[in-house]
Order: sequence, then C-alpha cells, then structure tokens
Amino acid sequence: MDRLIITGGNRLDGDIRISGSKNSSLPILAATLLADGPVTVGNLPHLQDVTTLIELLGRMGVHVTIDDRMNVEVNVSTIEEFHAPYELVKTMRASILVLGPLLAHFGRAEVSLPGGCAIGTRPVDLHLRGLEAMGAEVEVANGYVYASVPGGRLKGTRLVLDTVTVTGTENLMMAAALAEGTTIIENAAREPEVVDLADCLNKMGGHVQGAGTDTITIEGVVSLSGTVHNVIPDRIETGTYLVAAAATSGRIRVKDTAPHLLDAVLQKLQEAGAKLTLDETTIELDMEGRRPKAISLKTAPYPAMPTDMQAQFTAMNAVAEGTGTITETVFENRFMHVQEMNRMGADIQLQANTAICRGVDHLTAAPVMATDLRASASLVLAGLVAEGDTIVDRIYHIDRGYECIEEKLQLLGASIRRVPA
Ligand code: EPU
Repeated sequence: MDRLIITGGNRLDGDIRISGSKNSSLPILAATLLADGPVTVGNLPHLQDVTTLIELLGRMGVHVTIDDRMNVEVNVSTIEEFHAPYELVKTMRASILVLGPLLAHFGRAEVSLPGGCAIGTRPVDLHLRGLEAMGAEVEVANGYVYASVPGGRLKGTRLVLDTVTVTGTENLMMAAALAEGTTIIENAAREPEVVDLADCLNKMGGHVQGAGTDTITIEGVVSLSGTVHNVIPDRIETGTYLVAAAATSGRIRVKDTAPHLLDAVLQKLQEAGAKLTLDETTIELDMEGRRPKAISLKTAPYPAMPTDMQAQFTAMNAVAEGTGTITETVFENRFMHVQEMNRMGADIQLQANTAICRGVDHLTAAPVMATDLRASASLVLAGLVAEGDTIVDRIYHIDRGYECIEEKLQLLGASIRRVPA
C-alpha cells in the first residue's frame, strides 16, 4: 500500500488542469446500460472508481473499449449477466447505480447491497422504494438486492424523496428514462452531476426535464440510442486545489473547470481573504501571501456548501487566523480527519456535528491516515502547511478521487512524493 510523504512549508504557486468529474462519470457510465447502440464517454478521469465501474460493466459481458485519452466506448449488446458482485460493490458504493438501468432495460438485476461506510450508514432505501413504486419487485436477501419487473417494463409514477439523495435521484431518473409513461421526481437532488446525467440521457433520445431543480419530469421512451458525451469538470477536485492554495497563502490558476458550479465554495474562499479572478473555464486565486482567515460553514445539498469540501476547509481553518465553525449536516460521521489534524497540533473541538476550529500558527508533521476519500485529501492539505515530513497512509482512498494528485501538487511547487509502504 503506497504512502504520500509531504514536506510542508511551500506556498502553492502555478497552473493546473482539472480532470473530468468522478461523480458524473460513474452515473454516466452506468447509463450506457440503457442504450441500444454504442455510447462514447469522454473526459473521464483516470481514477480507481472509474476503473471499478468499467470492470463491473466488463464482468456483465458488456463490450468496453478504452483509448489512450480515456475515451470509453460501451456497447451493451453483448451483455450476458445482470449481476453486480459483492467484491466490486464493497470497493465502491456507487456500483448501486447499475440497478436502475439494468431493471429498466433488461427487467432484472442482482446487485450486492453496499454496506455501511466510513462516513455514515448510507442506506439505499430510497433507491429501492422508488423502483418498487415504479412496479419493480425487490427482495433483499443474502446481502443482495434481487429485483425484477413483472411485465417487463417499469411504469412512470410520482416519486417524492424524503431525503435529498444524489445517486438515488440518478438511479431513479435512469430507470424512468425507459419506463412506460411519465415519472416525476420531487425533492430531487440539484447537483450538477444530476444535470450532466440528464443531458447525456437526452442526447441518447430521452425526455428529461427540470434537472437542476427539485422537480424532475421524465417521459419514458421505448428505447435509447448510442451517443457521445463528455463529462463536466470535477468541481470537488477544483475546490480542493483552491483551498490548498488558500491554506498555503499561495496563488493558483485552475484551468478547464466550471466556475459557475462552485458558487458556495468561491464565496467562502473570498471570506477567507482570497482574491479571485474568473473566466468561463478558469479560476485564479491569489492570497497575496496572506494567511487565510477562518471561515464558518454548514454543508447541505447543492447549491449550498458540498459535504465533499468540508474536510478541506477544516484543514484550511486549522492554520487560519481566528476561529471558524464547520457544521456537517449530510453525513453523520464525516469528521475523522479532525483527530488526525489535532495529532498534528491543530486545535479543533468536536461538538455533535460541529467542529470548532481555532486557527494555530502552524501544524507539525505526523504519520496520519483516514478511511475516506475527502478526509484523506484534507490530510494532504494539512501536510502542505505542516512543519516537517507528514506521511499520509492508506492513500488508495485518494486514488479513488484525485487524478495524479502528487504530480499536480508538484507542478504547483509542493514537495510531495509517493513511496511504497
Ligand atoms: N440517504 C438515505 N437513503 C437513501 C439514500 C441516501 O437515507 O436511499 C441519505 C444518506 O445516508 C445521506 C444523505 O441521504 O445522509 C445524502 O446521501 P446521498 O444519497 O446524496 O449520497 P450518495 O448519492 O451516496 C453522492 C456522492 C458523494 C457525496 C454525496 C453528497 C457519488 C458517487 N457520490 O453520494 O461523494 O458526498 O452524494 O453530496 O455521486 C465523494 O465523492 O467523496 C463522495 C462521498
């Protein structure tokens, strides 16, 4: 298992390019299961989670071709199995995204139930209840979801989600795309990745309206065709590098991104003292050598502050001027980075779902680890501002979500290297 060794103290300074969105790539790769013709997905990031979803498609007998630029062509005409095994689902919960498409297109699916997760219990009850409301028979046994559609075709209906769920909205939207009649999803997630998926479904011949609002209307069609779709830039990767630059009092230009998807994040960076210059695809952040000011935030579904940025802002606050409070409302256990940062000399107190961060002058290096992706990334950020050599263990979590993290940080002047443990 590899580790990262980071020698802190360098101000980030330079330009990097943002990769395609992980959380768009996964549902869009799952959506290829709905099409009768080949679908080509471009701008995919080279990440472990994307590889896992491609492997999942391959295990079902789906024909997948990848070129050297990570354009993936998926042709489902060769599908033989409708099964997502535990050994893959346990490494990536988003595998549940194949459930809706398999049921809608082939009338059956066996998908391992994702277990608990490092950041919370993360049930999938809303995915299952929605599919049942559309006429699926769903049984959970031996750790698997066994689902089928008596009569062969799901039926459109009105679905009111009692919690805003991103992959739940995506799964149901994909299922509804091939259902008979109209489905209305209320209290739908408004995340940009939901909109990207809707755009892709519409290019395939689907009729999806309202994505990006809390009511999505899907008129089911009899079949969907092949298409070509490039996924949107990764807003969380973008935010992570911006916060890293702010924490190190640095300057950064982030290219090939989508600034309009980061309103809440950019607002907090301005509060922290960053000077921001934006154009359509670029964000430049300059701290002009200043230490960041502590900010307070509360996570919530889009367009509010993403839970996936909470840990990184906690790292910035750890070395900021003043005190900031960070409240997590989406997941119940997403503060595992706090104990590790305190081992590095941070002064962060946890009170229920709020972390009170009193900024300190500097952190000191320590061996640290985390068991989730964003927490691991935040420990890399802490390492960038710590005195000495921070060793971040279990970095396979980082490889699930950040393409070439050490190369990108090196380009920005960080001292970081990967070593085999
Ligand atoms: N929830 C339920 N029942 C359900 C589904 C969700 O109670 O059936 C609850 C969850 O337990 C949670 C809340 O609803 O408390 C929101 O969870 P959501 O379903 O929106 O999360 P998700 O779809 O599993 C996606 C991202 C996560 C991101 C969350 C929130 C993907 C593949 N994953 O997860 O990304 O944190 O939305 O924005 O899109 C990451 O990239 O590091 C990551 C964890």
